[in-house]
Amino acid sequence: MRQLLIAGNWKMNHTASETETFCRNFRALGLEDHKVEILLCPPFTSIPAMVSVLDGTPVHVGGQDMCYVESGAFTGAISAAMLADAGCSHVLLGHSERRQFFHEDDANVNLKAKKAIEKGLTPVVCIGETREQREKGVTEKVVRTQLLGALEDLSTEDILKLVIAYEPVWAIGTGLTATPEQAQEVHRYIRDVLAERTDDETAESLRILYGGSAKPSNAEELLSEKDIDGLLIGGASLKVDDFYQMIVTGDKLNS
Ligand code: 13P
Repeated sequence: MRQLLIAGNWKMNHTASETETFCRNFRALGLEDHKVEILLCPPFTSIPAMVSVLDGTPVHVGGQDMCYVESGAFTGAISAAMLADAGCSHVLLGHSERRQFFHEDDANVNLKAKKAIEKGLTPVVCIGETREQREKGVTEKVVRTQLLGALEDLSTEDILKLVIAYEPVWAIGTGLTATPEQAQEVHRYIRDVLAERTDDETAESLRILYGGSAKPSNAEELLSEKDIDGLLIGGASLKVDDFYQMIVTGDKLNS
């Protein structure tokens, strides 16, 4: 059985001092003995505070992006080695906001995934269609292209190190959640593409998260779907109680 992963993407929210307060309150709720895996991805400047306050807990910390180059003259960029050295184990790659506002494409995500794996980080590769693409009926084509593009030249051994996140762009930050059936349909399709690209066993063992207006009130129905192996949560991960509640929901379903 795939262990559920409950992940928070804070995007550009929470200063380092706000992060410290969040993490103290979060820790006070009890972070040991959960059945799900937990990941939080704060802004770069909050990583040290989070790593320090959550030290000794099983919570993983991740970056929200990284540069595909090792080091050098790339003003404003953060390398995989810097994330790892700061205490990160994961990194989000290809989030739709990176694609939309920073013009990242599949080739770029592929280079980043290779570098992240080389440096021992677990990439969480984000894919998903826009509203127009869904309305045009090209959802499968879009997620297939994004997925295969991100995985180009990766060995099965490396693909096994990834987490995939399906985030329909029209559901992000809009309050419009994909129905569990809509999400399950795409998750199943993604797993089929993974099986085609690798083999059945690899595809069955990879985790595919759902993201897009996930919240305490819809976590259970989403996580109950066969091919939904966790959540990538934006807005609701900024509130300690909401995020914790979703972890508890995951625990119940993972037991
Ligand atoms: P929301 O949960 O705020 O819709 O954001 C989802 C997301 O983009 C997570 O990466």
